[in-house]
Order: sequence, then structure tokens, then C-alpha cells
Amino acid sequence: MLRKTYQKLHDPKEVIGQVFMEIVNDVAPELKKLFGVDRAPKVTMLKMPKFGGHVARMADFFEQTTSMLGFTENIVGAWQLVRKTGRLHCKVAFMEENQNQLEKNYFTIVTDYFIEQFVAYLTGEKAEPNPAPDEEKNRFGQTYTKQQISDVWRRFFTLIGNQFTEAFEIERQRSLSSQNKKTLAPHQHYKDEADKKKKIRERQSEVETVDYRQGGDLVEMPEDPF
Ligand code: HEM
Repeated sequence: MLRKTYQKLHDPKEVIGQVFMEIVNDVAPELKKLFGVDRAPKVTMLKMPKFGGHVARMADFFEQTTSMLGFTENIVGAWQLVRKTGRLHCKVAFMEENQNQLEKNYFTIVTDYFIEQFVAYLTGEKAEPNPAPDEEKNRFGQTYTKQQISDVWRRFFTLIGNQFTEAFEIERQRSLSSQNKKTLAPHQHYKDEADKKKKIRERQSEVETVDYRQGGDLVEMPEDPF
């Protein structure tokens, strides 16, 4: 049903672009700069490389996840793609610095807005920005009720928001702890040096012991001159 309703959209990228544009303009305008559209009027936004690129990536992502879940039933694959995409956002400096679960969780800001707005295009309540030519309209009869469609998509977006948040958080912790290790490396270095010296001392004393034995008689140690 997720897949079937998604496929009903004539131009999903245009719909995603429209919804994401509303987010960047009205819900979280601090994202404009990140997507290089702080000076672009709405009509040209989708053509801006960073903004348009992210919309295209989102469209690919929804195409893949809905197809894996609904068509090939590759649930594990879909889950891995979602987690991976969440993790990858750690590389985005803005997200590393600003994403947090207490004040602004940008993932759920986006997914909540998609629940509100994107779903309306799937149920047919809203007309697509780039609709199909008339003859194609309503080619498939409405098989599901609005309630069913919005329920399944609400679950889908909620899951994505939560999984993104968690995968991102784990990745951020991981990269923080590996940074800490790097910072601690000089101490580790000293420790290695000390270990090496200790080993050499131990080996030398072994050699000395062997020497005494090989000599047959125990060589008397010179008296401590002090
Ligand atoms: C449901 C929400 C989102 C989805 C589905 C999504 C999807 C994606 C995907 C598939 C990529 C490409 C990853 C790769 O393979 O390298 C990406 C990259 C990126 N995302 Fe998101 N994203 C979401 C939310 C966000 C948010 C909230 C921000 C910023 C606040 C953001 C900023 C970026 C940036 C800057 C990149 C790298 C540049 C680019 O590829 O455009 N994304 N996103």
C-alpha cells in the first residue's frame, strides 16, 4: 500500500520539492543557508544545486525504501538504508552542531511536516504541483481510504524520523569517542615507551641470569661502591 500509493504520484520529486521548500521557508528558515537558498526566490529554489540535490536524494531514498518495503519485501535492506542515511548526516557540520533531541530535532521536524503535508498529496486532498495529463488522471481507482493511507504513511515517516535520530546519535557518539582516543594518543605513546623499556630491562636480567649459570660458579657481584 505504501508503494502503491507512492507510485500513484505522477512526479514525486516535485511534490517532495514543494514540501521541503515549505519546511525551509516557513518551519526552519535557518536551513536556507545550508541548502544555498538564502537569497533564492521560491520559484528558483528547486533549481539551486544544493537544495535541488537534496530533494533529488530524498526522492531516491523514498523510491528505494517504498520499493524495498512494498515490492521486494526486503525489510532488512530498507532498515539498513534508513540507518545508513541517518548516520551519513553526521558528516553535515550543521547537523553535528545543531541536531539535538531536546530543542530541535531536525529529522522529526522534517518527518512531522511530511506527515502533515506530503500525505495530503497521496490521499488526493491536494493536487500535485506537476500533475499528470488529464487522460491519465485517476487511471487507477481509489483502492484505499484516506484514513488507511494516512495511517500507513504516518507510521513510515515516524519510523524514519526515529531511526534517523538514533542512528545519527550513535554515529556522533562513535566519532566523539574516536576523537577522544586521538587526543589521548600522546599518553598512549608514553605508555608504549615505558612498556618497551620495561621489556628490555626484563630481557637483560634474563640474559644476566643465564650468563651466571653458564659460568658454572657464581660470579661474585662487585661490592656496591657506595
Ligand atoms: C526525512 C528527512 C531526510 C531525508 C530522507 C534525507 C535524505 C538524505 C539523503 C538520501 C542524503 C544523501 C546521503 C548520501 O548517500 O550521501 C542526504 C544528504 C544530506 N542531507 Fe539529508 N535527509 C533528510 C533530512 C535532512 C535534514 C533535516 C538536513 C539538514 C538540516 C539534511 C541535510 C543534508 C545534507 C547537507 C546532505 C549532504 C549534501 C547533500 O547530499 O545534499 N537532511 N540526505
